[in-house]
Amino acid sequence: MPHGHSPSVLKTIRSLSQTTRLCRAARGPVVLVPTMGALHRGHAALIERARSLAGREGLVVVSIFVNPTQFGPKEDFSRYPRPFAADRMLCAAHGADVIFHPAAEAMYPTGNSTLVDETDVSAVLCGAARPGHFRGVCTVVLKLLQITQPEVAVFGLKDFQQCAVIRRMVRDLNVPVRIVPVATVREADGLALSSRNRYLTAAERAQAPVLRRALRAASAAFHAGETRAAKLRQLILKTLAAAPLARPDYVEIADADTLRPVRQVGRGTVFALAVFFGQTRLIDNLWLR
Ligand code: PAJ
Repeated sequence: MPHGHSPSVLKTIRSLSQTTRLCRAARGPVVLVPTMGALHRGHAALIERARSLAGREGLVVVSIFVNPTQFGPKEDFSRYPRPFAADRMLCAAHGADVIFHPAAEAMYPTGNSTLVDETDVSAVLCGAARPGHFRGVCTVVLKLLQITQPEVAVFGLKDFQQCAVIRRMVRDLNVPVRIVPVATVREADGLALSSRNRYLTAAERAQAPVLRRALRAASAAFHAGETRAAKLRQLILKTLAAAPLARPDYVEIADADTLRPVRQVGRGTVFALAVFFGQTRLIDNLWLR
């Protein structure tokens, strides 16, 4: 599977396992990029990072699977976009070797009854707002790691909590993989790229950059000397309130490792928020490193 060619599309677990086993023995590292498809420049940045980690000889595997177990009953599983032909082109253009695109029955055959539950980092922020979400994420990511057996797996910091939960799971369950985080890719106006941005109306889209603006206002105030989390949180809420279509779900100022709220802001603090525009829920974060 030399890259530059169209990536092979593998649909069965057996075919993917065989491919990665052969590659690892003969050529070099296997790097996995888990996605749900509807790929954009954010995913492209992950695939390019994976390509550089795999080198010329290694194998870049992009999984495309809209994972039913991480969606709540009232969430957008059935209307989540599935533009496979365009996804395949994006994977080819950014250096993927293999697309793993399993059917739901292959990943969750009838009678499966095991779920993976990380219970600490998952308990707050999006985990509190979306019960069961990270259980579904951990379950599918552990399955993808077991099937692919990659040396490295790449995740976006756009989903800051997801990165933290996966790191914890991999540590706790002794999964022999290195997790590599990639910075958030944004539109010119600061809005983080997301497959869900396409749900926004024109009016909502025009106000959506307020997420980033609010985070930056807090970071600027911190750098100007304000370290009280309560004050910075108020500033974020006040900035969000200037956008009438924005309904904050949560705004938290937390320790980047534990995700527990802090009172004093410093290095290693993350500002994290989730905001509804109509039915569409957007997230963003800013990590003071
Ligand atoms: P999905 O939302 O498709 O995202 C796949 C990967 O792309 C995640 O690691 C996510 O953090 C990253 N990503 C999304 N938008 C990004 C952006 N603007 N900049 C940088 N990276 C970005 O996250 C999932 O899928 C699923 O939960 C999954 C891990 C695949 C498990 O089903």
